[in-house]
Amino acid sequence: MNASAPGKIILFGEHAVVYGRPALAVPVTQVHADVEILDSARAGIWINAPDINLRAEVSSLPADHPIAAVVHEFFPRPGASSGPGTEAGGAGIEIKISSSIPVASGLGSGAAVSVALVRALSARVNRPLTDERVNAMVYEVEKLHHGTPSGIDNTVITYARPVYFVKGQPIQTFKTGSPFTIVIGDTGVPAPTRESVGDVRTLWESDKVKWEKVFDKVGEIAKRAKTRIETGEWELLGELMNANHRILQRMTVSSPELDKLVRAADEAGALGAKMSGGGRGGNMIALVKPEAANSVAEALKEAGAKHTIITTVDS
Ligand code: PMV
Repeated sequence: MNASAPGKIILFGEHAVVYGRPALAVPVTQVHADVEILDSARAGIWINAPDINLRAEVSSLPADHPIAAVVHEFFPRPGASSGPGTEAGGAGIEIKISSSIPVASGLGSGAAVSVALVRALSARVNRPLTDERVNAMVYEVEKLHHGTPSGIDNTVITYARPVYFVKGQPIQTFKTGSPFTIVIGDTGVPAPTRESVGDVRTLWESDKVKWEKVFDKVGEIAKRAKTRIETGEWELLGELMNANHRILQRMTVSSPELDKLVRAADEAGALGAKMSGGGRGGNMIALVKPEAANSVAEALKEAGAKHTIITTVDS
């Protein structure tokens, strides 16, 4: 049983999306999480996830461990080791998890592992699930990762399509009038989303009137961006990205490393750039004309990016 799920980037609207404003996110297929379920001679359910240094029998993990939580949806805890054992004639299973999505970097590594794991396990136990059900299950797991998630990561990764996301509303996808190119630059600084989301909440609590207005501005940017994407006026997205980045700086979720990469992209001729995801580290994105993609990626590396990815957004 194999399953795979892509990474993602948020084009516009992170953080404000937690407060009900719209945001735009797209899958990134150049990176992915992969899950393989194998029969094992050993009894029990063994997790083998070298990328996060995890090798353990699932019942030895805390119940709120995100991977254990998914496994227990399919093999409930009390009979956890007897479930697959019985099925496989006394033996157990091994769940191999690998991922090329850097952890805690704003590319949705946690949600991608959960989506791939849910799909592989549902195939293994022959319990087919709709995308809607996969999405709902992974949203519950996202809460273990970062407290008050908006649900944007699990949604864009489950459906693997560009998504215009509003918390609590049915999924809306969007179409690109014409494809456009994004360069992703990784600061290499891992930054837990839980912390930046918590700090924005502290700001909001200190002056709700002010921050609600700021979130409104971000929501407006996301709406205008959606229209421009749909009409194929993608070159006009650059200024919206720059405006969104300035607001994220005011929210205190950018960082010197992110700002440096955003500046480097600008100087190398990108049409616009911003941090993407929870911030404080992780990834930034730059909108480029296709012919400038390689030189902007080079400039990002010179400015300290640990990895770059060139991706095309196309519905
Ligand atoms: O850091 P990421 O990629 O998981 O993105 C989080 C996006 C936020 O808007 C900051 C939080 C959320 O739950 O939407």
